[in-house]
Amino acid sequence: MEKILIESAQPYQVCIGQNILPQAGALAAEVLQPATLALVMDETVAAYYGREAKAAFQQAGFQVAEYFFPAGEQAKSMDRLAHLLEFLAEKGLGRNDCIAALGGGVTGDLAGLAAALYQRGIAYIQLPTTLLAAVDSSVGGKTAVNLQSGKNLAGAFWQPRLVLCDCQTFATLPQAEISAGAAECVKYAVLSDPALLQQLTDCALDAPWQQIVQLCVRYKADIVRMDEKEQGLRQLLNLGHTIGHAAERLSDYSIRHGEAVAMGLMIISRAAEKMSLARDGISAEIAAALRALRLPLHCPYAAEQLAEIALTDKKRRGEHINLVLPEDIGKCRIYPLPIEQLLPLIASGMED
Ligand SMILES: NC(=O)c1ccc[n+]([C@@H]2O[C@H](COP(=O)([O-])OP(=O)(O)OC[C@H]3O[C@@H](n4cnc5c(N)ncnc54)[C@H](O)[C@@H]3O)[C@@H](O)[C@H]2O)c1
Ligand SMILES: [Zn+2]
Repeated sequence: MEKILIESAQPYQVCIGQNILPQAGALAAEVLQPATLALVMDETVAAYYGREAKAAFQQAGFQVAEYFFPAGEQAKSMDRLAHLLEFLAEKGLGRNDCIAALGGGVTGDLAGLAAALYQRGIAYIQLPTTLLAAVDSSVGGKTAVNLQSGKNLAGAFWQPRLVLCDCQTFATLPQAEISAGAAECVKYAVLSDPALLQQLTDCALDAPWQQIVQLCVRYKADIVRMDEKEQGLRQLLNLGHTIGHAAERLSDYSIRHGEAVAMGLMIISRAAEKMSLARDGISAEIAAALRALRLPLHCPYAAEQLAEIALTDKKRRGEHINLVLPEDIGKCRIYPLPIEQLLPLIASGMED
């Protein structure tokens, strides 16, 4: 098992390995007093791994209260959050009790925000079971639900006490979910690692995911150490996301987050290349990786629709919007774009 330390204000370990879910209770007991633990999971994940996770926590002395919800992005809502908070209160959880999020990014974001809010903040741990949650959402303490007005608009920075990633759980993921998680891996590669982009292109869906999770988490750990609250550097991790989030919302979340990130990556890299801000050929290299990973290269919405929604994004700062632009594979920068230039930029990035 590999352990990576996240040096946030309250440091914690990310444990990555195969078949380590049964150790979740023992590892949690090292950082938390065994108490009541609300085990939050969607119904799909519960059917696969709920029993094993529950037993692991019970064996370590935790009292487990299970909370189930229907799978899907729709669960990242104020209604679902309120329902979960009421559940915690009904089960009598106090400030020394804790939450465990077993599942993908939806579960982690929802349960993490409930942990941040309940009784002004209780401990939680992340047990990611999707590639996307493993490489990205389970690490770094960003939690949120969506509002009608946009994605992730109500949230908090609230760090978990432990992340335990059992890569064996990826075995039951449908191919489309592996692809979606791989889009975030392509994002890391474009930000920092040309060799990773090549590896993802060559190995495609047969990539050695555990090794790639370790690489991506180490990279995210570096960024979170330097900028936990996203004042500057951490904004780089939004590469492909401003436009991606707009596509996700336009689809009413029928496009997966990772698929939307792939569309966002393509639009921004084509646009950067056409504006001569990026090296010639980089969008074709990114496209080759995304194609190999069976991710979409084109977005089904019009530039006008995407621009309108992107302007409501959290990254907007008055008359500018902070966009992350790739200059080369492994070299990106934060670019404050005047808002009137957003529509032409997206339009130029729509086609090859
Ligand atoms: N907080 C952050 O820093 C951060 C970063 C990136 C993404 N996100 C958020 O993460 C969310 C997307 O996460 P996701 O892609 O994991 O979605 P998800 O949680 O909806 O999981 C995707 C699907 O896979 C199923 N599933 C999960 N694990 C499984 C397994 N092992 N076997 C079989 N099926 C399994 C789920 O039931 C679900 O249907 C988005 O809401 C996005 O905004 C957050
Ligand atoms: Zn993302």
